[in-house]
Amino acid sequence: MAERTRGGSGTLGTHVGAVRERPVRQRSTTPGKIVVLLGPPGAGKGTQAAKLASALGIPKVATGDVLRAAVQQGTALGTEAKRFMDRGDLVPDDVILGIMKDALSQPDAARGAILDGVVRTVPQAEGLQKALGELGRDVSAVLVFDVPEEELIRRISGRVVCEKCQTPHKGLEPGDICPKDCGRLVRRADDEPEAVRRRLAVYKAQTAPVIDWYRTHGVRVVPIDAVGTPDEVRDRVLGALER
Ligand code: AP5
Repeated sequence: MAERTRGGSGTLGTHVGAVRERPVRQRSTTPGKIVVLLGPPGAGKGTQAAKLASALGIPKVATGDVLRAAVQQGTALGTEAKRFMDRGDLVPDDVILGIMKDALSQPDAARGAILDGVVRTVPQAEGLQKALGELGRDVSAVLVFDVPEEELIRRISGRVVCEKCQTPHKGLEPGDICPKDCGRLVRRADDEPEAVRRRLAVYKAQTAPVIDWYRTHGVRVVPIDAVGTPDEVRDRVLGALER
């Protein structure tokens, strides 16, 4: 049976992935778990990925961070990705599948992984399933972060990120120093209003269908009410993963 952590209706996350009754194939949630985070821009995937990785002692993989690091370093990957990212479009699937396979082949991925924004299209979900299948592994759970659209816009418009560690922050200004003392805080190019509108539209059109794809493939899909303090949301997620 599909699950839900707390109320929340009429919001982007539930709108795009309405909860339905479906049988859930039982999967391992012991060490080695692969957890997929889905949710619209600003839903808190990056914030929670860091908290969950720390709480569960497993690495996180964030394709957005990998791509932004490549842009900053001026690599061929970064140059190709930048023109898609800045206007709020998705980077082509083959680029993402390469990053995904590379991350899964790292030794620490044997302990499991939190996949933050790694899967955003049905071909990417299929590619991940194939890559994991070749390693004798599977997705343990898909967490769908549910936040009302006006709250997403509010969060994104107040966000700055560290140019080095990429940690998102609110209540600070561009040019301030990252509280972790590693770099300057900047605004993301794709946080400008036009790009944000495009990213929300792309989420509904291309990423929301991934939720149903997982349901129809018997993977455990858990909607998470992602409104509340970051620690409250983390505790809801950890509770859901234990069940
Ligand atoms: P990515 O960087 O992953 O962007 P996104 O998915 O649009 O998500 P965001 O980073 O905007 O938000 P988030 O959900 O992580 O929220 P956050 O924790 O920062 O990807 C960027 C681009 O890369 C894509 O548009 C695409 O071009 C490309 N890309 C990446 N992966 C791809 C793929 N698989 N396929 C194709 N292209 C790909 O939180 C937001 C703000 O809210 C922060 O300021 C934070 O401090 C604050 N906050 C967090 N939680 C809370 C809370 N509980 N309460 C209040 N404030 C909160």
